[in-house]
Amino acid sequence: IMEIIVAKSAGFCFGVDRAVKSVYDNISNKPLYTYGPIIHNLQVVNELEDKGVKVVNNIEELRKLEKGKVIIRSHGVEEKIYEIIKDSGFSIVDATCPYVKKIHHIVNDYSKKGDTIIIIGDSTHPEVIGIKGWSTRETIIIENVEDAKKLDIPKDTHLCVVAQTTLNYLKYQEIIEIILDKGYHVDIKNTICRATRDRQEEAINLSKKVDKMLVIGGKHSSNTRKLYQLCKNQCDNTYHIETIEDLELLVFSKNEIIGITAGASTPKNIIQEVITHVRNTERN
Ligand code: F3S
Repeated sequence: IMEIIVAKSAGFCFGVDRAVKSVYDNISNKPLYTYGPIIHNLQVVNELEDKGVKVVNNIEELRKLEKGKVIIRSHGVEEKIYEIIKDSGFSIVDATCPYVKKIHHIVNDYSKKGDTIIIIGDSTHPEVIGIKGWSTRETIIIENVEDAKKLDIPKDTHLCVVAQTTLNYLKYQEIIEIILDKGYHVDIKNTICRATRDRQEEAINLSKKVDKMLVIGGKHSSNTRKLYQLCKNQCDNTYHIETIEDLELLVFSKNEIIGITAGASTPKNIIQEVITHVRNTERN
């Protein structure tokens, strides 16, 4: 009999799952808005829109709308956004991931103490913009090794270093070493979240022991593509599946072991659909 093994870490991480749930929990309380798309998955965002949940991209847009509830997504936002939303007459449902919230607290506390804050991450990413907005003083964003090398501030500066939750650990370590070498007084807070790494490690281990490995997620989703590549290195029969149509040419036979994982913005029901489809196409 065919065996299907689904990775425990497939799909939404804890924080995204929590944020999406908070939308559904509030769905009967209209008008309901999300501050930015709740996840990077068009199907889910469209489905929510059909149910009357509107995506608001900035404060100017929000101010023109009928008063209602605004959901802050897992990435979090700057401190001042909370004030502006409330002052504009809207109420807030805060679905900021607790791991991101923790960074907000660190940055707020340490900057109030007088430390210079360093954020390692992508300066254009909403999570990083949000984190920066909790610092009460000078904040430096380091995106790469070159930025770290260029760091040139007085030697007696106290630094507090945090990282974007989804940062690659090796890149983080490399940057930290460069900062440490410069001899500042530095407090390092490793705020990288394990969700991405756990998903990758589990996918690698699973793909080692299966006959076919299915990686479900958007063709443009970078974390899904990364997962696919990692699995492909272990298992030649690895397939990137975006929709059921991608399964059509595949044949699954009775004695095979099929492994399944999914990228960070793949909802459970799509994973379930794939499982059902695989079961239904099983051959002798
Ligand atoms: Fe997800 Fe929160 Fe980690 S949103 S990736 S569990 S920081």
